[in-house]
Amino acid sequence: TSSGPTLFGLPMKQASLITLTFQNSALTLILHYSRIMPGVPGDHRYFASTAVFLNEVLKLAISLTFSIYEVSRTLAPQTPATVLFEQIYNQVFSSDSWKLAIPATLYTLQNTLQYVALGNMDPVHFQILYQLKILSTAFFSVVLLGRSLTTKRWIALVILTMGVSIVSLSSNDTKDSSPLMIHDFSDHFFPRSMHELGQIVGGVGDVARELTKRTLDQVSDHAASGALLGRRSASYEGIDEDQNDAAAALLNPSLGITAVLIAVAVSGLTGVYFEKVLKDSASPVSVWTRNIQLSFYSLFPALFVGVWFKDGAEIAKHGFFDGYNWVVWSVIVFQSIGGILTSLCINYADNIAKNFATSISFIISFLFSVAVFGFQMTTTFTVGTVLVLGSTYLYSGPDRKRGRPPPITIVQ
Ligand code: C5P
Repeated sequence: TSSGPTLFGLPMKQASLITLTFQNSALTLILHYSRIMPGVPGDHRYFASTAVFLNEVLKLAISLTFSIYEVSRTLAPQTPATVLFEQIYNQVFSSDSWKLAIPATLYTLQNTLQYVALGNMDPVHFQILYQLKILSTAFFSVVLLGRSLTTKRWIALVILTMGVSIVSLSSNDTKDSSPLMIHDFSDHFFPRSMHELGQIVGGVGDVARELTKRTLDQVSDHAASGALLGRRSASYEGIDEDQNDAAAALLNPSLGITAVLIAVAVSGLTGVYFEKVLKDSASPVSVWTRNIQLSFYSLFPALFVGVWFKDGAEIAKHGFFDGYNWVVWSVIVFQSIGGILTSLCINYADNIAKNFATSISFIISFLFSVAVFGFQMTTTFTVGTVLVLGSTYLYSGPDRKRGRPPPITIVQ
């Protein structure tokens, strides 16, 4: 395996999984912050549909760049550029390229749902619920790829579901620890020129503190009352009252939960479908060609359904880039890189290994919240989290070989 392509000096499989782990933690925190951050420029928060669209444009550009590099290495030094582009064109629009239109549409939906979810719930609970991807991935692997799962893996899936349920119910007894006011932190430690950076650190701090107070207890309130939760006020200490109201007005945890659960189903289905297309092709097609196809077909639903149909009227009024700042651009860049890394993980490893990487990413975000932001765990939360991580380990760990020969007895 070490003779294949490498990244940061590591074989592609390990490198893509490790990088995805860190990318995922960063994206979850920054995406959530971008949806709740106070003091957005202009009079409007940015349109998620435009970010989903630009994410695809950027992914297309990145994939095309790698594809040009890859194809050019196979050509003689003096080959004209037209030949190079013709080759890429022929690969991208080969007869089976239409197969990517389906996952492209589904990934666009999933990416949109991610904005809805993280705009309405905290990142730690989001990541916990998102672990259910393991369940949906297993389900679609069995149904679509005809794989069979070992008993150990089914047990792991049951434990996972229990763990996620326990965590979902855990926030009723969360206490506000929040000893550390991150806005104070940024005021004291960041020089003026780094004010914006301070603001984002402050925002991430609010996110971590916020989850010690609410979100899923609001959801269980909601479940108990059976009524539509609507927009509940959140408490963002350290932010001005107006900003507090503005941020809180955006949150709707029941909508957030629904969005994650649909995203979970779509993720499993699409990941498995993409893996099937990638690995089942009669003639090998490079992952970069597949990525170009995927981003190309994603542009249509992203543009016509998202930007034009869903937000068209508002965008016409406020402008495509309304509410954009460097935080939003960071989200777009992080998401594009994440998409590319995901494709590399699926290609060089598989969907299940990819999900394992995201579980580790959850531990990183969580430990970060504990160490830096003073997030306090409740017992229920800890038990649920241990079950989720333990089950992930159980699922991803190597299977014991069946039919092992009996131990050799040495007769003296
Ligand atoms: O959560 P999950 O691992 O299913 O996330 C998949 C993400 O990776 C989506 O944002 C999707 O757009 C992206 N992706 C991609 N290119 C691929 C496969 C996935 O951009 N080839």
